[in-house]
Amino acid sequence: MTRRVLVTGGAGFIGSAVVRRLVRAGWDVLNFDKLTYAGNLASLNEIDNSPNYRFAKADICDGRAVREALESFRPDLVMHLAAESHVDRSIDGPGDFVQTNVIGTFTLLQEALRYWQGLDAAGQQAFRFHHISTDEVFGTLGEEGLFREDTPYQPNSPYSASKASSDHLVRAWFHTYGLPVVMSNCSNNYGPYHFPEKLIPLTILNALEGKPLPIYGKGENVRDWLYVDDHASALELIATTGRLGESYNVGGNNERRNIDVVRTICTIMDRVVPDATIGAREGLITFVTDRPGHDARYAIDATKLKGELGWVPAHDFESGIEATVRWYLDNAAWWEPLKARYDRARIGLS
Ligand code: NAD
Ligand code: DAU
Repeated sequence: MTRRVLVTGGAGFIGSAVVRRLVRAGWDVLNFDKLTYAGNLASLNEIDNSPNYRFAKADICDGRAVREALESFRPDLVMHLAAESHVDRSIDGPGDFVQTNVIGTFTLLQEALRYWQGLDAAGQQAFRFHHISTDEVFGTLGEEGLFREDTPYQPNSPYSASKASSDHLVRAWFHTYGLPVVMSNCSNNYGPYHFPEKLIPLTILNALEGKPLPIYGKGENVRDWLYVDDHASALELIATTGRLGESYNVGGNNERRNIDVVRTICTIMDRVVPDATIGAREGLITFVTDRPGHDARYAIDATKLKGELGWVPAHDFESGIEATVRWYLDNAAWWEPLKARYDRARIGLS
């Protein structure tokens, strides 16, 4: 039986990895995406001619558009990745985060519930709603400990607060209305097609051009990095085999201080694309004002996902970061237009 999945946010960084994976695996995929600044159909060039892929440009806050998509496509799975995702933007302008992450998720839940209630018994049995979320909902860790599924929620940024709100809504729609949901919370992703406002692609592209490499505060904040395709494989597993009403933490056991991530990228770039005019790229590192409310450390305990569902990530950080650097070097056609737009926005030109 062909499986039909509606993916929200499928033109984003992680959503596009999920779409590429599921299209190749033979799923019928509808990508439902508003195409904000972070959405990019060029991330789907590898699969967008496939007969089992289609795209709808629409907003998850638009209940009518969501209803039409559900009623016409008739998915047996919804994977919800659409979100405003960048912490710094949420500090500068939290409104869009509340709108998309909270109101958008609410709208999607209402329409998914209406759709699910209209299915016959077999359809209801088969249907699932997978909500994709972040480890940032748990707040920050000290030097010890890991985030588990039962770690209390303590979001610290407008972004993480909006994602925490969406997690609570999804949980409530399961317990109150019986919508068959499954949830996951993942650590920092990296890899190809990552928008160049985030630490890793920003560092790679600035290092290539000999520009300053901004590090917030002292660079001692720790993130737990996961290669994006490993997240996509976890998401397929959770969506299809995760227990209903449960949440699963996803992470790669790759804790790194920001300063060490940036130094690693500098070392790879010096080896792969040496540039005498730039010299050793570590010299480009520039410590800048810290992010307000900057969480000190994230680290995931993925025991439940590994033990229950048998998930095994395929990439360690060293091979993943080398592959990522090489991908950016080989795919200027993807990032050049974005970088030009992003640089202009940063200096107030657009
Ligand atoms: P992203 O910013 O790269 O992509 C978000 C996508 O959602 C874009 O294609 C955008 O156009 C779309 N979108 C935004 N608002 C929309 C709306 N109102 N209606 C329809 N589409 C809309 O984000 P990402 O990094 O790929 O993250 C995807 C999901 O995974 C998010 O829910 C995020 O919270 C979560 N997550 C991200 C990470 C990470 O490291 N990037 C880690 C854990 C969880
Ligand atoms: O933990 C999961 C989260 O990871 C996701 O939910 C978010 O959607 C995703 O954006 C990411 O959030 P972070 O804030 O951790 O990612 P970012 O790449 O923005 O920053 C990573 C770390 O690097 C963070 O500690 C801030 C720091 N940083 C970031 C930038 C952009 C810098 O030091 N300099 C920078 O220029």
